[in-house]
Amino acid sequence: MTAKAAVVGWPIQHSLSPVLHGHWLKEYGIDGSYEKIAIEPGTFAQRINDLREAGYRGVNVTVPYKEEAFALADYNDDAARATGATNLLIFRERGVEGRNTDAFGLAASLRENIGTLEDGKVVLLGAGGAARGAVLAMSMLGAGIVYVLNRSSERAERLIQSLMDSKAIFGAGVISARLDGFSHFAAEAALLVNTTSAGMKGNPPLDIDLLALNPQAAVCDIVYNPLMTPLLKDAEARGHRTIDGLGMLMHQAVPSFEAFFGVRPAVTPGLRAALEKVLRERA
Ligand code: ATR
Repeated sequence: MTAKAAVVGWPIQHSLSPVLHGHWLKEYGIDGSYEKIAIEPGTFAQRINDLREAGYRGVNVTVPYKEEAFALADYNDDAARATGATNLLIFRERGVEGRNTDAFGLAASLRENIGTLEDGKVVLLGAGGAARGAVLAMSMLGAGIVYVLNRSSERAERLIQSLMDSKAIFGAGVISARLDGFSHFAAEAALLVNTTSAGMKGNPPLDIDLLALNPQAAVCDIVYNPLMTPLLKDAEARGHRTIDGLGMLMHQAVPSFEAFFGVRPAVTPGLRAALEKVLRERA
């Protein structure tokens, strides 16, 4: 029987998940399908239940339903509990399992590119939903200190407090500060990570001066549309190693594919090329 899975959200048209999973289904010769399904606001729980009854193995969940998915799951993993957001629902016999694979995805992408952080200092920009998983990823990679910089430092402080309350952060010290103090923290950073939506297609770029950044620091943007954000372009021109958002996107899908289709897929240059092609066609 064909194994069925999907990504759900509203809107869902631009999701790259079907490209990712479709590539792997073909590569591994698996009898499976992976669709994108739009769910109208107000109908999430009912639609998820319908998909479960229709025999789906599970779904990936994207904007705006990650919090609803967290509430709907019968049990959630540590990363989902730490972030309050679930992006993977697995339909098991004993109930609906919720997971968050974003922190894992970012950690795996960075590990592949720069290895572990070995007590290094990280400057992390942003304090929204994406920042929560990113702080968790820094802790997984062994960061010594994570400075969370945001236009409003109160929001950064609230984010840190709730992460600390969840007890998901181990090892790393996490400190909040205002984004306009960037140059104060940048000189000692081993890594700069952007989790804000600045630099995304249609948004203005970040207003920071990389002149102050440690010349050895790597620069990572979790935005992948465009692939080369103004931040990454600037960083590359200054000789920094750069890590784009496609790495995280590809790696966060690995545990989902394994849960749906029983094979742990590899993140390969072929997969990256397939995604880059779609992004180019859409640009
Ligand atoms: P997401 O869930 O994608 O993280 P979000 O919760 O809306 O989205 O958070 C967006 C983040 O980007 C916030 O940290 C926001 O900063 P503020 O809290 O100060 O609003 C940040 N952000 C958006 N545009 C920005 C810009 N032009 N410069 C700096 N930070 C920006």
